Amino acid sequence: MDVKGLTAVVTGGASGLGAATARALAARGVKVAIFDLQQELGQAVAAEIGGLFCAVDVTSDASVDAGFAQARAALGQERILVNCAGTGNAIKTASRSREDGTIRHYPLDVFDRIIQINLVGTFRCIAKSAAGMLTADPLESGERGAIVNTASVAAEDGQIGQVAYSASKAGVVGLTLPVARDLAGDGIRVNTILPGIFETPLLMGQPTHVVDALGASVPFPKRLGRPEEYARLAIEMIENPYFNGEDVRLDGAIRMAPR
Ligand SMILES: NC(=O)c1ccc[n+]([C@@H]2O[C@H](COP(=O)([O-])OP(=O)(O)OC[C@H]3O[C@@H](n4cnc5c(N)ncnc54)[C@H](O)[C@@H]3O)[C@@H](O)[C@H]2O)c1
Repeated sequence: MDVKGLTAVVTGGASGLGAATARALAARGVKVAIFDLQQELGQAVAAEIGGLFCAVDVTSDASVDAGFAQARAALGQERILVNCAGTGNAIKTASRSREDGTIRHYPLDVFDRIIQINLVGTFRCIAKSAAGMLTADPLESGERGAIVNTASVAAEDGQIGQVAYSASKAGVVGLTLPVARDLAGDGIRVNTILPGIFETPLLMGQPTHVVDALGASVPFPKRLGRPEEYARLAIEMIENPYFNGEDVRLDGAIRMAPR
């Protein structure tokens, strides 16, 4: 897909992997709309790349509808969707408190919240974006659009405390092929990236020795991934017309230990 002059929506584009992808797309002449909860950061990235910020919560149907309406009115129908909005937490399935021995299980409302953001939020944006792409004529290549989702290596090797996060990301991996098949007849491609450990604000808030230890645990290169490296793969998935229905780890060969 020749992306120059096309429109993209990047969810979670105010920060980390999404912001890097928004920048990389803009550098290729793409008009970018950023969907995010973080207004100040989102507006700053949008201003830097000459894009548009839309205050969107991916867990809300009305909010996502309003975001697509705003983006399409300003920039035209998007041909590219990159789903980066997501979050994680660390809670065990059931555990005994070290202090007083109380036994607790994972709070189900918290489990549901992670699934709603990472899995349902991703699918909500895919479904609504694909419906919009279907209203547009195919490009010269026969393509109507390209969608990139963000799972995690935790979809395959989730660590202690990552049950909700891993389940949500495995859901994203699970939807890639059937969604690609659903949309193949209309020329929309769908792929998913499973990042390892990347240098994003989330992780860089940790003490230096923790970040260094994480970097040293990567077989090669012995460092965290750079958001630009994620963006390079996202761009390849968008531009390469034969890339479809695939889930790809981008992780320096790391396989996560139980903790
Ligand atoms: N950084 C890593 O090492 C890593 C590894 C594997 C997977 N991932 C995944 O990559 C994606 C991006 O992560 P990141 O590291 O760039 O984190 P980040 O926190 O820097 O960016 C995530 C963005 O998503 C936004 N967001 C969260 N909930 C939202 C909602 N309900 N509606 C709209 N926006 C929302 C946040 O405001 C934030 O700007 C996430 O899905 C994350 O799970 C990250």
